[in-house]
Amino acid sequence: TFVVTENCIKCKYTDCVEVCPVDCFYEGPNFLVIHPDECIDCALCEPECPAEAIFSEDELPEGQEPFIEINAELAEVWPNITEKKDPLPDAEEWDGKPDKLEQLER
Ligand code: SF4
Ligand code: F3S
Repeated sequence: TFVVTENCIKCKYTDCVEVCPVDCFYEGPNFLVIHPDECIDCALCEPECPAEAIFSEDELPEGQEPFIEINAELAEVWPNITEKKDPLPDAEEWDGKPDKLEQLER
């Protein structure tokens, strides 16, 4: 399965949702997640993210392991998103900032 990781937080570019063949992205206030039971591992979303926040769970960067559980948990409660929208207003400023997990709004 593929996982949305920390660098999506406060960016939320949403380019990823347009290419997903099974529409398995779910949207929170400042982050998206992938439903692990719905993702078919097609890998189409990974290169679409301008923030490079999407990885296969087998190839997660160091320290991003908690996002496996965060994606699974929040995909159960957040609404589905299938169409691209504008990124968050300060997306460029937040892109690449470390330690954004504390900024995650649920
Ligand atoms: Fe959707 Fe494919 Fe990305 Fe999984 S890997 S979230 S199925 S686009
Ligand atoms: Fe987030 Fe990247 Fe999608 S920033 S919303 S995972 S395009």
